Amino acid sequence: MAAPSGTMRAVQYDRYGGGAQGLKHVEVPIPSPKKGEVLIRMEATSLNAADCKFQNGTGRPVMPRAFPFISGFDLAGEIVSLGAGVNDFKPGDKVIAINFPNGGGLAEYAVASASLTAARPPEVSAAEGACLPIAAVTALRSLQRAGVSLDPARGSSPKNVLVTAASGGVGHFAVQLASQAGHNVTATCGERNLALVRSLGADEVLDYKTPEGASLRSPSGRKYDAVVHCATTGFPWSVFKPVLAAAGTVVDITPGFVSVTTAILQMATFSKKRLVPLIVMPKKEDMELLMGMVKQGTLKTVIDSRHSLSSAQEGWAKSMSGHATGKVVIEMGRAE
Ligand SMILES: NC(=O)c1ccc[n+]([C@@H]2O[C@H](COP(=O)([O-])OP(=O)(O)OC[C@H]3O[C@@H](n4cnc5c(N)ncnc54)[C@H](OP(=O)(O)O)[C@@H]3O)[C@@H](O)[C@H]2O)c1
Repeated sequence: MAAPSGTMRAVQYDRYGGGAQGLKHVEVPIPSPKKGEVLIRMEATSLNAADCKFQNGTGRPVMPRAFPFISGFDLAGEIVSLGAGVNDFKPGDKVIAINFPNGGGLAEYAVASASLTAARPPEVSAAEGACLPIAAVTALRSLQRAGVSLDPARGSSPKNVLVTAASGGVGHFAVQLASQAGHNVTATCGERNLALVRSLGADEVLDYKTPEGASLRSPSGRKYDAVVHCATTGFPWSVFKPVLAAAGTVVDITPGFVSVTTAILQMATFSKKRLVPLIVMPKKEDMELLMGMVKQGTLKTVIDSRHSLSSAQEGWAKSMSGHATGKVVIEMGRAE
């Protein structure tokens, strides 16, 4: 298969701010894979909060590294050419990959490091695969960081796990992973998603807009050993503390100044209840593990909506709203 050359369709933005309206449809050169990289003909990318946060200027001035910027960190497609030194893939291989923080997924072709690219079996669709790199890996690592064993064979005793924003991209994976490993899962989400989150394996579900949901109190009085805190609404430590078990851990995946300061203070005072700020950099092994679960049908990807590249703005707006149920996917070959 000859390496493609010429130009491709892409969606990019050229300044901070502007939301979905700031995205522009352009024709740009097809990137060339450098040493250790693969070039992927894109089939799907999924949007993450990071896409919109970079555009909003949350990572200013270092993220994005330069304008114009093609966003899209989760990649799924087919390898079309290899950079020097790549021996573990060949053109025609179906893959998923992560290219963070460089992006490039909102385009017909994108490059990724071969070391962050994983083979995709035929049982896993491009759309499903594109949902895994950031969201599912973050769910997996957050649970691990909170001390939740995800290997039922190891026979560890079940823990009480709370997942906040369980209807979101990360949360819906966290609920399934914890539940399938035999843990007791309490989850928070909006009223419209209570049944969905229950169907994913949560034993107890709290509507976050009710007083019970706001207090995070388990209806059965469970104290949580582990919390995967995905809700972006900041909860003060005073909300978590009374609902935690004696050595409970809260993993905060949207850490800000307050949670980092709280974590440092807790370390200094040898507190048994802990808040852990976490930023995840996905690894190939994590993607392979999760893809295996999707292949076996034990991990489900909930897709909020699918959009064509030409309609990427619609998906961007949905993702940015903070009200997606599961993942927002952009499919390159999707009919208008
Ligand atoms: N640390 C890392 O490495 C890492 C990795 C990935 C993501 N993140 C961060 O994690 C956060 C969550 O990401 P995500 O992709 O899962 O978000 P998301 O998909 O945008 O979450 C949307 C969902 O959250 C629900 N929700 C919103 N506020 C809630 C609340 N207070 N309580 C319960 N549910 C609530 C919404 O329900 P309604 O529509 O009913 O309101 C919606 O279904 C983001 O801040 C993201 O930046 C961090």
